[in-house]
Amino acid sequence: MDLFKNLKATAIANKQRIVLPESTEPRTLKAADQVIAEGIADVILIGEPDEIMAKAKELCLTNIGKARIVNPNDDAAVQKYAELFYELRKSKGITMEDAVKKAKDPLYLGCLLVKSGEADGQVAGAANSTGNVLRAAFQVIKTAPGISAVSGAFIMQLPEGSPYGHDGIFVFADCAAIPAPTASELAQIAVSANRTAKQLACIPEPKVAMLSFSTKGSAKHDNVTKVIEATRMAKELDPTIDIDGELQADAAIVPSVGASKAPGSNIAGKANVLVFPNLETGNIAYKLVQRLAGAVAAGPIMQGLAAPVNDLSRGCFPEDIVKTIIMTCNQAIDAKK
Ligand code: ACO
Repeated sequence: MDLFKNLKATAIANKQRIVLPESTEPRTLKAADQVIAEGIADVILIGEPDEIMAKAKELCLTNIGKARIVNPNDDAAVQKYAELFYELRKSKGITMEDAVKKAKDPLYLGCLLVKSGEADGQVAGAANSTGNVLRAAFQVIKTAPGISAVSGAFIMQLPEGSPYGHDGIFVFADCAAIPAPTASELAQIAVSANRTAKQLACIPEPKVAMLSFSTKGSAKHDNVTKVIEATRMAKELDPTIDIDGELQADAAIVPSVGASKAPGSNIAGKANVLVFPNLETGNIAYKLVQRLAGAVAAGPIMQGLAAPVNDLSRGCFPEDIVKTIIMTCNQAIDAKK
């Protein structure tokens, strides 16, 4: 299944405005050029126009002139975004001077463009840490209705012929954001991952497994109790979600193991959305499945924000950035439904 073919067609048919704040970073600029050339999105770059155009020339890119460029050093242009940031954060004790400084930071300015309705999403992280990309989004864009905890998912596509998941496709979460989730946060991760599966992984009927080292009471521990509680809370948050837990990973994905360890479960043996009990397990699992099973890992896809902001790996290639832009466009389209 070529996931990106469908997602790209949807993006082209519903063009979104995507901010790329790392505008002189060569891989980002190459991705921007391709996105403009293929009509995937309208691109907004943040930086000094002369510097951006000089870099584009050096890289022989011919489409960058069609991007909107917002200059963070243009005091008059930045003022209204500083005022917006001040309004959003004055209860935290910030001064107008602090707000002006933040509005000149490209990661914050990009989020402020999204917040003010001038852009639909942001993609960054080729040159900034995950923490810095996320903190700007948390402070400015904030969370979607019903969600207070943003998390990060990966779409895992196993090599052709895999008998597991939805034709070899899974959503894994949280692999990026919340080091030690509470039961309520785990429940929100599950609800968001269920949505990501429909939105981006083309899984029409996601089956969500809440993973643990225990299956249906086989072990007793506070961590197991937390997963059971999270499963209950997820059903309360979204009564339509098809979810079960606690399940061990083999019981979740292997039909024969599921049938013997969790007979009667509607998820055991059929899961295609795996919710990990904490960030350590989620982050380690996606990297191992990527390396040892040869899966293609797309993400992290930040889920639960009021408008999409996605983070890149600092080792990314231009094609990874294009894919992330395509997924961000699809999240933005879905968020407006
Ligand atoms: N969802 C929603 N809001 C959040 C979340 C969250 N998960 N986490 C923090 N916030 C909010 C806080 O409530 C706070 O809001 P406020 O200032 O309006 O009150 C704001 O964000 C800042 O909160 P802090 O606790 O100060 O944030 P912190 O500096 O700890 O940073 C961060 C949060 C960056 C996400 C941190 O939890 C983190 O570093 N997580 C791990 C990220 C990471 O390194 N992942 C692995 C690499 S990614 C990969 O391998 C794919």
